[in-house]
Amino acid sequence: MSRTYQPDQEDAPPPPVGATARYQLGERIGVGATGEVFVALDKNLGREVAIKIFRLKGPAARDRFVAEAQVTAQLQHPQVVPVFELGEMEDGTPFLAMKRVEGESLAAWLLRGPSLEQRIGVMQRTCDAMAYAHDRKILHRDLKPENVMVGAYGQVLVMDWGLARPIGQVQGEGLHVERFERSSQRTMEGMIAGTPAYMSPEQAEGRVGELDQRSDVYGLGAILYELLVGAPPFQGEPLTVLEQVKAGKFKRPRQRRPEIPRELEVVVLKAMARRPQQRYGSATEMREDLDAFWARRPLVHLRSTWGERLGKWAFRHRAAVGAGVGVALVAVFLLLGGLWRYAVDVGTARDRALHEADRAKIELGRARLALADALAAQGRYGAAREALEEAAAILTTGSDATAVSLARSFLAQDSPEPISVCKPHGEAAIVAVALAPDGTQVGSLGRDGRLVLSDPLLPPPR
Ligand SMILES: Nc1ncnc2c1ncn2[C@@H]1O[C@H](COP(=O)(O)OP(=O)(O)O)[C@@H](O)[C@H]1O
Ligand SMILES: [Mg+2]
Repeated sequence: MSRTYQPDQEDAPPPPVGATARYQLGERIGVGATGEVFVALDKNLGREVAIKIFRLKGPAARDRFVAEAQVTAQLQHPQVVPVFELGEMEDGTPFLAMKRVEGESLAAWLLRGPSLEQRIGVMQRTCDAMAYAHDRKILHRDLKPENVMVGAYGQVLVMDWGLARPIGQVQGEGLHVERFERSSQRTMEGMIAGTPAYMSPEQAEGRVGELDQRSDVYGLGAILYELLVGAPPFQGEPLTVLEQVKAGKFKRPRQRRPEIPRELEVVVLKAMARRPQQRYGSATEMREDLDAFWARRPLVHLRSTWGERLGKWAFRHRAAVGAGVGVALVAVFLLLGGLWRYAVDVGTARDRALHEADRAKIELGRARLALADALAAQGRYGAAREALEEAAAILTTGSDATAVSLARSFLAQDSPEPISVCKPHGEAAIVAVALAPDGTQVGSLGRDGRLVLSDPLLPPPR
């Protein structure tokens, strides 16, 4: 019996199997490791909802499902799916009625090739949802692209709070469902709960008592990884994946796709650091770095070591020092100083210094391009071409490269004057110019008092 059973007419036929008095089940719209999700009609309110039916049986399973319903219901946030009701089917199976999200999982959405801006936007909102949940001391523990939905209007919703637990109370769940999924992308339960390919190393090691919001930060990092690379950080048999997760062994995003912006790789690596202490302290910090990246500001949450500070100094004084020397200085400083405790940061420091060297180079390229532009405007085409070639050697990607190729095709002309010089009024200034609506004639009025009509497709009148 449904908790919200509304008696129909006495002699009405019994409801079909799997139905409830209030909800009429429709097609299945999703399936996960533990539940099946159907679209359903709420007959009381006359609206469509989604009904999740738990597939696992037994009292422990029931407790877990009730916990999922209660946790989700506590989280009231635009990026968390709203829960309407926890009820029971006619046969006693518990179900969860929630808002039907019209959209698709992040995994499916990603296959449609969203822009970098859209992907970053989704990531920022996923971080917001998690910052909110963490403020309420709730861990999700199963963050992955399958459990985030992108709605038809671009809304982002974090779903499937089935493994969610209050921070610090992960131990002693008393539920050991002996199941081992064949896929590393599937949620598992038992001593180790989560999804291997997106699971933090401490989760993979079963150190459940140590889990805190930084374990979810790791999951956010793994999602960002997939959003950038198009594949999860780990692939393969679950047991092999678990070993790799524990060892923190995965290919850096730029090793798989070199066009990924360096700062974003830094964000992924920080979020997915093997030791929680090296990760972002919170989802908010990760969001702040994504914001910084998008606003082209330096990332804010990278720990500033002496090495890094030196790198920055070298960057600020790059005219004198040269970015290359800055990088070398960082290395020399780290070695000579004998400061072994900074050694672990060498990787980050080097990345950062290289990154700053990259920036310095790009600025140089842009300056060369501007110079080429100015020289061309003065008619010094030879010099302009030289400056342009220097710019071209540096600016090889993105809109900078487009600008270079446009400038190149312009300067490649024999006589690169962009507009044929037209002087219908001799040396007298032109007061007004208008193009006929059908485009066949240009009229100009000059200070000489003449109105000249000319055909824009014919050579200019002398
Ligand atoms: N409220 C909803 N609206 C639409 N689709 C949903 C909804 N909830 C879940 N789904 C779909 O069903 C799938 C499985 O749901 P999920 O809660 O992740 O189950 P499980 O706990 O078994 O993994 C999701 O990946 C999603 O595609
Ligand atoms: Mg799921």
